[in-house]
Amino acid sequence: KMNTCNHLRHVESMATLPSGAGKISHLNSVILGEDLASEENDLVFPSNHFSSQALVSSPEKYLEMYKRSIEDPAGFWSDIASTFYWKHQWNQPVFSENLDVTKGTINIEWFKGGITNICYNALDRNIDAGNGSKIALYWEGNEPDVDASLSYSQLLDKVCQLANYLKDIDVKKGDAVIIYLPMLMELPIAMLACARIGAVHSVVFAGFSAESLSQRIVDCKPKAVITCNAVRRGPKVINLKEIVDAALVESTKNGVSVDVCLTYENQSAMKREATKWQEGRDVWWQDIIPTYPTTCEVEWVDAEDPLFLLYTSGSTGKPKGVLHTTGGYMVYTATTFKYAFDYKPSDIYWCTADCGWITGHSYVTYGPLLNGASVIIFEGAPNYPDSGRCWDIVDKYKVTIFYTAPTLVRSLMRDGDEYVTRCSRKSLRVLGSVGEPINPSAWRWFFNVVGDSRCPISDTWWQTETGGFMITPLPGAWPQKPGSATFPFFGVLPVIVDEKGTEIEGECSGYLCVKNSWPGAFRTLYGDHERYETTYFKPFPGYYFSGDGCSRDKDGYHWLTGRVDDVINVSGHRIGTAEVESALVSHPKCAEAAVVGVEHEGIYAFVTLVEGVPYSEELRKELIVAVRKQIGAFAAPDKIHWAPGLPKTRSGKIMRRILRKIASKQLDELGDTSTLADPSVVDQLIELSDC
Ligand code: WT7
Repeated sequence: KMNTCNHLRHVESMATLPSGAGKISHLNSVILGEDLASEENDLVFPSNHFSSQALVSSPEKYLEMYKRSIEDPAGFWSDIASTFYWKHQWNQPVFSENLDVTKGTINIEWFKGGITNICYNALDRNIDAGNGSKIALYWEGNEPDVDASLSYSQLLDKVCQLANYLKDIDVKKGDAVIIYLPMLMELPIAMLACARIGAVHSVVFAGFSAESLSQRIVDCKPKAVITCNAVRRGPKVINLKEIVDAALVESTKNGVSVDVCLTYENQSAMKREATKWQEGRDVWWQDIIPTYPTTCEVEWVDAEDPLFLLYTSGSTGKPKGVLHTTGGYMVYTATTFKYAFDYKPSDIYWCTADCGWITGHSYVTYGPLLNGASVIIFEGAPNYPDSGRCWDIVDKYKVTIFYTAPTLVRSLMRDGDEYVTRCSRKSLRVLGSVGEPINPSAWRWFFNVVGDSRCPISDTWWQTETGGFMITPLPGAWPQKPGSATFPFFGVLPVIVDEKGTEIEGECSGYLCVKNSWPGAFRTLYGDHERYETTYFKPFPGYYFSGDGCSRDKDGYHWLTGRVDDVINVSGHRIGTAEVESALVSHPKCAEAAVVGVEHEGIYAFVTLVEGVPYSEELRKELIVAVRKQIGAFAAPDKIHWAPGLPKTRSGKIMRRILRKIASKQLDELGDTSTLADPSVVDQLIELSDC
């Protein structure tokens, strides 16, 4: 049995702290703005009105459920899992417990032996429950007057047609399919079609370059690639098919050729006549998919059969194929969605994330659809035609739950309140944030201006690897603190450990780990189980290591402090510094590069040039192009800092700590530089700051 006492103790102490959510009901008196003395201690209470209708309406209710989830995880999760459709019941024990590498290989399993299908549970099950004519997807195009929608029944028809086609081209259970699509309805349709036939989808964000796409194709060897010819984002047209063509040529050179490239004709962006075509390999979606029957038998799979692969950055150059399986992921994404957003069947839900990232998997596609929700898919850019687009969409569809990233909140905040206040936003009732810590001033703006001081904010901490929310407010239960992700979700036992891997209690800060198994956890890194164990389970034996720093305050609230490894988070997207560095040094004039993330600023690259090469504006641009080409535009450095020398230890290790301080202009916090091989490079770098 796990030792859960310490954790429960500090959560329990919270149960008495807020003196019941009902007592203080006037949020506006709590949230006053920037002039508050100690922002970390401000509590923002959900209103009586909100709490009284909430699924979890008080800290006490949360605690009761949380306690059970920790003390009897098998019972807790089995009860929830029973509300889904299973062709056969799972085996006992319900899950495998070991997270300790010193006790044997990590082999996480949940509901093993249970036979189900996530597409069936998301579509057929909801239709059978009478929701066939409810809207599943509202699609809002790049241009404000272009839209479409699909009911649950219509969505099922489309999914079945594509699933039948995939079967026809010999995609079988366990085969990989790469999806490289922008935010069209065809993207979730393609994911669900794969799931229906037991194929493993791997969505590649359509902002990745041909080289990145090819790297992923070579790694997972898909039976088919699903894409579209082009997309419009804001005023720009991006020719996606050209990127796919280049990626497929590159993959063939590396020994992996793909037989089928199913291409959706995205007419508003580009006509088919303008699209380059390879006969025999390329197939127009519109020509073939509608010819297939609208029903398709489900492939029943084991709970532990793979559902999808999603590549994410690690601290080395090679992206990791995070593998999620079916049963646990299904139960976990659906349950976290329901509670963290206090979901009700009447909600209209909009998550601004792209399905190319985990947020789009768990909280655009699977979590919401498993709950029978109406989901908005937005093709365009949040500042097109102007900075009020998000709030126009909120009013147009009467969005009730709005989930986004701090980077978008900050950018819309900079654009001015008038874009927000010109819209009503009356429909909103819950807001959400994800991707990086949300700074208290952005939190307040989101809360006061966007949500009219009425809507709780769920600041959800989680990762590609965790599958779903790990630490998150339940909006009706807890008083919030701006910038804190608050408390663990049901069944999650987060701990903070010190350098030596010893758990620390009470008010503390250290490395964030998880002590127990939860259903949504990833099961391996595709083709590299050893890297999985080394990266996540060896740093602190006995625990899953998140890679994040975290502190816990006297009330037990969790405050995420950012990555402690060489991974940076920009605009809610994860990028490995090593990947950007390798793209930079691929430029023949770049000898060495060191990349750091700077809070709210993005990617900051220090570059050392080849002996004798002068630094110039032209070279700066070329270096940025190198990164765009190798990874994608979203990974392009925001700043290139010319570094004739880099701060290194005598053993040659770059001291990023110092680079981070220089990049964020915290020059009085450089710390000890005496261990550097050549301390004078630091002054030189500071001098060159504004080059
Ligand atoms: C990393 C995971 C999970 C979906 C989006 C990113 C950071 C994520 C929060 C939050 C503070 C956060 C962490 C984490 N992160 N959400 N609410 N507060 N930090 O997924 O690409 O797998 O990145 O994003 O650093 O480790 P991802």
